[in-house]
Amino acid sequence: MCGIVGVLGNHEAAPIIVEALKRLEYRGYDSAGIATVNAGRLDRRRAVGKLVNLSDLLVHEPLAGKTGIGHTRWATHGAATVGNAHPHRSGKVAVVHNGIIENFRELRAELAAAGLTPETDTDTETVAMLARLHLDRGLSPREAAVATLDRLAGAFALLFLFDGEEDLMVAARQGSPLAIGHGTGEMFVGSDAIALAPMTDRITYLEEGDHAFVTRQGVEIFDRAGRRANRDMQTVALDATRIEKAGFKHFMAKEIAEQPVVLGDALRHYLPADGIALPEGVEFAGTDRLVLVACGTASYACLVAKYWFESLAGLPCDVDIASEFRYREPPLSPASQAIFVSQSGETADTLAALRFVRDKVAKILAVVNVPTSSIAREADIALPILAGVEVGVASTKAFSCQLAVLALLALKAAADRGRLDPETLARHLDEMRALPGLMNQALARSDEIARLAERLAEAQDILFLGRGAMYPLALEGALKLKEISYIHAEGYASGELKHGPIALIDRQVPVIVLAPHDRLFDKTISNMQEVMARHGQVLLMTDSRGADEAAQGTWATVTLPEVPALLAPIVYAVPAQLLAYHTAVAKGTDVDQPRNLAKSVTVE
Ligand code: F6R
Repeated sequence: MCGIVGVLGNHEAAPIIVEALKRLEYRGYDSAGIATVNAGRLDRRRAVGKLVNLSDLLVHEPLAGKTGIGHTRWATHGAATVGNAHPHRSGKVAVVHNGIIENFRELRAELAAAGLTPETDTDTETVAMLARLHLDRGLSPREAAVATLDRLAGAFALLFLFDGEEDLMVAARQGSPLAIGHGTGEMFVGSDAIALAPMTDRITYLEEGDHAFVTRQGVEIFDRAGRRANRDMQTVALDATRIEKAGFKHFMAKEIAEQPVVLGDALRHYLPADGIALPEGVEFAGTDRLVLVACGTASYACLVAKYWFESLAGLPCDVDIASEFRYREPPLSPASQAIFVSQSGETADTLAALRFVRDKVAKILAVVNVPTSSIAREADIALPILAGVEVGVASTKAFSCQLAVLALLALKAAADRGRLDPETLARHLDEMRALPGLMNQALARSDEIARLAERLAEAQDILFLGRGAMYPLALEGALKLKEISYIHAEGYASGELKHGPIALIDRQVPVIVLAPHDRLFDKTISNMQEVMARHGQVLLMTDSRGADEAAQGTWATVTLPEVPALLAPIVYAVPAQLLAYHTAVAKGTDVDQPRNLAKSVTVE
């Protein structure tokens, strides 16, 4: 989603802002812009498309000034045009914004009555216009910004810059994070600490409802009620902000490849030699139901976990897509627990669902990658997945680390509920410790999968099939493929095929069958035979036993290591990711920043 940068510096701001915006590119965007105040006057440059277009524009039309704000826009209201790109300006105010101003239509009507007409299709422009109106009525820039914020409904992170004010920036957070960076005689603002990493590692995160007056001398922060607020300054570990491809062609390739390492780190954290070490309060004995809520890939991790919680712990489990959850107003038992899964920890739908269950369930757990995120902070207990920064828009290492943490929670639940004797629990934990090695073996299939991907890249439609916990993985494989290769793909429970989707099968439709040799293998293979009988081109992903029994007649078979049933979805995630990655590379798409997508989805 949109990226925000603000600089109150001692050097020319525009180049610093462009560099910082580059570090936010991973969030996804379709236009970019910068405004500065120079010699007391606001000016701005904006361009559609990648940041290089803005840099080129700045070469021809430089923007001087040591104070500036910048933005990468992921279009919500209005197409990706120069006119709709941020910063938005009205009179003596320029604004950049992440989120959605939900009452912008109502505000527009008021502004029209005051004689101000919008020039863009965006909701953000209303904010600049409202601040302008307050300035025109005699308020100071600080007062005008606060009066404007009072009128806004929705989710936003905002930065205001004013004509004539070279040592002031007003920042506000409601629903979308903002980080204030402390320099020496300089101050910075960013959507996250990653943007500010080259400038400073000393960060203060604004809290919900905060606004801040930032000058070169420091920052004054006020809470929702307008009271002076003290927010801690923290030193952010360099590791948390390092975003390098480390010799890989794409971040996604790097993130797929580093899964054994990050997963090993997460397992060492949660699995010391003497058993599972989860935060205090993670306890399932008295729980009557679990509700797991997330979006996209994270929701597929929840679907896999449902198989684990129900079969291992006998704990009934509902999985919901966050955007549907609260609107269907599900009845919730006070003895239930809710688990929210989110890589970014800022996904608007997931956060809203978390707020919906507050006071309705016994406990709220969050499984997140960003420990400082809103979802982590608002949950009763946050469990970091320790995947490290994930830059590729398509989630890979976060998915496998989410699965690992959820598997440990399911094992803990099973132990708490007396469903696992200590020996069986110890065996499962040993199996988990072996995961990094198994993932390495799966990664070794990369070149073979790259060759198969050459042919997949020609397909119009691709189906993924799986049974049991491999069914959600079929959904995830299809999502991964469609989001980065733009090939239409669907995942189905293999038993469901004959109830409709089998009509799609012909010689042109590759069908990826995810089938470790487990207790459901024979049934999955029967469904695979139904596909082959209709000339479907089957790519079977299985282990050596499965390959011995069922490879005949397939278009191709990828042989993966033999894995304990519990862990198969984690290990098979690797070839599914590789398949999507290599197909996208073969098609020449923008793998790390696929069209239309954003990394951290902070709008509903
Ligand atoms: C797909 C993908 C998305 C995210 C979804 C939730 O590869 O990354 O489907 O999983 O937008 O995002 P988080 O996990 O940040 O809540």
